[in-house]
Amino acid sequence: MPWSIIVHGGAGHVPKNLELAHRAGCERAVAAGAAVLAAGGVALEAACAAVQVLEADPHFNAGHGGALDEDGLPALDAAVMRGSDLAYGAVAAVVGVSSPVRLARAILEDGRHCLLAGPSALRFARRHGVALIDPERQITEKTKMEWESRQAEVARRGPPPATAEWAPLDREGESRGNTVGAAVRDGQGTVAAATSTGGLLGRYVGRVGDSPIAGAGTYARDDLGAASATGHGETMLRTVFAYQTLLSLKGVGAPEALLLEALSDAKARVGGTGGVIVALPDGRIAHARNTPTMACAWQIEGSALGSAF
Ligand code: GLY
Repeated sequence: MPWSIIVHGGAGHVPKNLELAHRAGCERAVAAGAAVLAAGGVALEAACAAVQVLEADPHFNAGHGGALDEDGLPALDAAVMRGSDLAYGAVAAVVGVSSPVRLARAILEDGRHCLLAGPSALRFARRHGVALIDPERQITEKTKMEWESRQAEVARRGPPPATAEWAPLDREGESRGNTVGAAVRDGQGTVAAATSTGGLLGRYVGRVGDSPIAGAGTYARDDLGAASATGHGETMLRTVFAYQTLLSLKGVGAPEALLLEALSDAKARVGGTGGVIVALPDGRIAHARNTPTMACAWQIEGSALGSAF
C-alpha cells in the first residue's frame, strides 16, 4: 500500500494576499514529511517533521508566530498520536518551548504520561533535551499587532461572544485561525496525527483548546485512520470531533461529504466552525472546512504533490 500524507495550515480566515505564502508553507511541510516516508520512515516521524516545518513558519498560528493569550504570552498546545498502539503525547499552555510538537513527541516516547501542562512541562523538556526558547523570540510583529488591536477592541466594546472569536474578520490584511496539523499513513499501514497551535488570540490565561486533547483535535488508530482538526477549539472539544469523525468515516465511500456533514453538525450543536484533515487506513486522504479558508497540501506515494486553500 502506498504511503500518504496531508497537512493543514489551519481553518480560519486568511486574506487573499497571503494565500501563496500559506500554500507554500503547507507544501514545504508535506515535502518534509514525504521525504521521511520515501526513505522508509514511519508515520509518526513524518507527521512530526511536517508539523515542525509549520511551527517554524511565522505565517501560522503555532510555534514561532503562535497567537498570544490575555497576558500577551505565546502559551502553546500540541499533540502527537500513533495509531498502531494508541501512544499519545501532548503539551498544553507551554511557554518557552521552541517546538511544542517535538516536546509532545518526547512525552509519547517516554510513555509514562500522555499530557503535560504549563511550566512543569519545561522541566520534562530540560530532562529530555528538548530545546527551550525565550518566548519573546516567538512573538512576531503580526502577533503583537493582532494582540494590541484585540486588547483595544475589548477595552472599547468588551469581549465578543465566544464563537464570534472565530467569525471572519472584516479588517483587510488580518488573518485568524492557522493551527497546523498533519495526518499520515506510512507504507506499513501505521497512521499518525500531529497538531500544534497558539490557540485563540486573547484567550484566558490557562485556556487549553482541542489540539492537545486526544479525540478532540488529534486522533489516530490504525483501523480508523488519523485526523487533525482545526478551528474553534471549544466546538471541537465538546463534540470529540477528531475521534467521532474517524468513527463515522468507517466504510464510507466519499469522505469529503461526510467531513462537511460532521463540521456542520458540530456548528449546529455548539456554534463554532473549523476544518479537518484525515489519512484513512486504505491510503486515501481527505480534507474539509466550513471556514472561509484552510490551506492544506498532500501527497500520495507515486503521485504529485497537491494543495488547496
Ligand atoms: N483549534 C485550536 C484552538 O482552538 O485552540
